Amino acid sequence: AEPLKVALLGCGVVGSAVARRLVDDASDLAARVGAPLELIGVAVRDLDKPRPASGVPQDLLTTDAEALVAKADLVVELMGGIEPARSLLLRAIDHGASVVTANKALLGADGPQLYEAADARGVDLSFEASVAGAIPLLRPLRESLAGDSVQRVMGIVNGTTNFILDKMDRTGAALADVLAEAQQLGYAEADPTADVEGHDAQAKAAILASLAFHTRVSTGDVHCEGIMGITADDIRDARKIGCTVKLLAICERTADGVSARVHPTLVPRSHPLASVREAFNAVFLETELAGELMFYGQGAGAQPTASAVLGDLVQAARHKVDGGRGPGESAYAALPILPIDQA
Ligand code: NAP
Ligand code: HSE
Repeated sequence: AEPLKVALLGCGVVGSAVARRLVDDASDLAARVGAPLELIGVAVRDLDKPRPASGVPQDLLTTDAEALVAKADLVVELMGGIEPARSLLLRAIDHGASVVTANKALLGADGPQLYEAADARGVDLSFEASVAGAIPLLRPLRESLAGDSVQRVMGIVNGTTNFILDKMDRTGAALADVLAEAQQLGYAEADPTADVEGHDAQAKAAILASLAFHTRVSTGDVHCEGIMGITADDIRDARKIGCTVKLLAICERTADGVSARVHPTLVPRSHPLASVREAFNAVFLETELAGELMFYGQGAGAQPTASAVLGDLVQAARHKVDGGRGPGESAYAALPILPIDQA
């Protein structure tokens, strides 16, 4: 089969790990897809920055993301932020490219615009890496559980804050001392306030609630409290009553509608969420037919996130080969979203 042209937007923590696999394991991926994946270019801001982890030849780097997108069959967006990511993805979809993104900030703010554009153009829009890193969670929600009814989603969906709270719990350290370590390990967002203020988990909760309840929840619909106010004393006091502190995203279907919230929560040490260490994530689902399901794995970092991105890319590429399509998101039930003060 003809090679499929892949454009990569961003070559930072996650983009480098994705590029490395595309460069090093091209024949393996071609066998899985049924056609070669040809990396035609990588858009970055700074052409001179050394990127040894990526394995990308210098001549594939470009600052002209628009021109790159126009030539691609598949676009992988790993730049982050709202613009220019949104315009580039819309442009890619408009050209008929399938798109993969890990950008929860964008999906939480403007998911419906992207879902509708992809559905109208009949291309895939996949975003498994946007919530809970490596954990296959969104595909089960969009596909395996499509005939069930999810009642509740409760999870640790931010690796940075879990790393910080876990380290504070085990060592008695102060929050500020542990944040720098999470940043060095590549877990934190470019602006780590998105993690510690809860906004990253807030966007993820919006994506989860939208998929779980087949409705439209935006980041602004999610009540949000971060961990900046949590002190070493709070953690010690929690320990005295047999609890640990976790930043939880909780999304529920109630008789009145859908609610979603993110806040630090006292979790009894006997609860499975209490044992989630370092930057790991874990998500519980309660559904009408399947009952309780638990998903656990690495929620952040270069390679775990690349795993989810590459899974989406292979799947979208297979669809380009066989003419199939992933699940669309345009059709949704207009369930009421409860105001934040009732969440
Ligand atoms: P990052 O390390 O900051 O990398 C961002 C990359 O995008 C850089 O290569 C940067 O170029 C490029 N870029 C940014 N703005 C650009 C622009 N306007 N034009 C061209 N290139 C641009 O970010 P990351 O940690 O890899 O995260 C990427 C995305 O994945 C984000 O949406 C993030 O939320 C999401 N995500 C990250 C993780 C994680 O563990 N890190 C996990 C799940 C999801 P330069 O290199 O030249 O600066
Ligand atoms: N900054 C995010 C986190 C990256 O710490 O979970 C993964 O989405």
